[in-house]
Amino acid sequence: MTYTIQLVGILLLVVTFCGNPTDAVDRRIVNGTTAADKKYPYQVSLRNVNNLHFCSGSILNTRWILTSTVCLTFATNFTIVAGSNNLNGSGDTYQAASYLFHPLYNSRPFEYDALLVNTTTPIVYSTRIQPVVLTPLFPIVGAVAVISGWGTNDIASQITFNELRDLNTTVLSQTTCQSRFGGIFNVTSSVICTFVAKGGSCYFDYGAPITVCNIQFGIVRNPFCGVFPDLHTPISNVYSWIISII
Ligand SMILES: *[C@@H]1O[C@H](CO)[C@@H](O)[C@H](O)[C@H]1NC(C)=O
Ligand SMILES: *[C@@H]1O[C@H](CO)[C@@H](O)[C@H](O)[C@H]1NC(C)=O
Ligand SMILES: *[C@@H]1O[C@H](CO)[C@@H](O)[C@H](O)[C@H]1NC(C)=O
Ligand SMILES: *[C@@H]1O[C@H](CO)[C@@H](O)[C@H](O)[C@H]1NC(C)=O
Ligand SMILES: *[C@@H]1O[C@H](CO)[C@@H](O)[C@H](O)[C@H]1NC(C)=O
Ligand SMILES: *[C@@H]1O[C@H](CO)[C@@H](O)[C@H](O)[C@H]1NC(C)=O
Repeated sequence: MTYTIQLVGILLLVVTFCGNPTDAVDRRIVNGTTAADKKYPYQVSLRNVNNLHFCSGSILNTRWILTSTVCLTFATNFTIVAGSNNLNGSGDTYQAASYLFHPLYNSRPFEYDALLVNTTTPIVYSTRIQPVVLTPLFPIVGAVAVISGWGTNDIASQITFNELRDLNTTVLSQTTCQSRFGGIFNVTSSVICTFVAKGGSCYFDYGAPITVCNIQFGIVRNPFCGVFPDLHTPISNVYSWIISII
């Protein structure tokens, strides 16, 4: 069996086919839109032993999924459900076999927050279940990026959505991102920030893919529920490690 990972080198070109940043207003994973069936066939739900969703991930190939290391704070024994937009739906369930941190995670968690999880049995593809395309490139500032997840719609809420939701958000420059945080967080080149007024990823969106035209360039690492920009691990920081493992 061969595992391949697709790489798209011309993200900028692709962006022009995917819409205009000015369209991305007042939408959120909360109050965002309900995702169309099969729109994000690479998106998976991580479930604890009680089958409760706690994080998202993305399918890399038939053995591996990608998520955030933060997810291990919620559960270490978990299953991966693929192929259903509904948390209560009939997806395919795979048991997580083991997981791998990036070797530099412990020393620099904000730069290398990526977790690879393999499944005990191979993931079977279908029209609802497909691998994602990863890119080690940064999207251009102002690009419309899509977050998809089952996370809460409010910073005060702990309730997940049954249906997968998606949200158009906008890639910020480091400078703009820093100005939105003020002094409470130092934005470095090791994070990608996205923001849309009153929108964003929230609790239980950790590990979700953030994409441009279905090409994943980041992993949701610090959702701020629309209060501050969301912070994501750039795939570029972890790309060569991922390729060396999967
Ligand atoms: C994002 O914007 C594009 C372009 O306007 C639009 O086609 C798409 O439906 C929007 N997606 C979401 C999740 O709102
Ligand atoms: C993980 O959870 C499953 C289901 O509850 C259980 O059968 C299994 O023994 C657990 N595995 C570990 C390593 O705890
Ligand atoms: C799942 O939940 C929705 C409500 O969000 C409900 O309409 C639907 O009947 C449920 N499906 C199953 C299989 O329980
Ligand atoms: C999961 O990955 C680990 C680390 O590469 C490996 O030791 C293990 O055999 C894998 N498990 C399965 C079921 O593929
Ligand atoms: C989501 O929209 C509803 C009404 O559509 C509103 O009451 C609620 O405050 C909104 N949530 C947030 C977090 O703004
Ligand atoms: C940000 O960096 C400055 C300068 O290095 C430092 O003084 C400050 O404590 C840092 N702030 C945070 C929140 O880490």
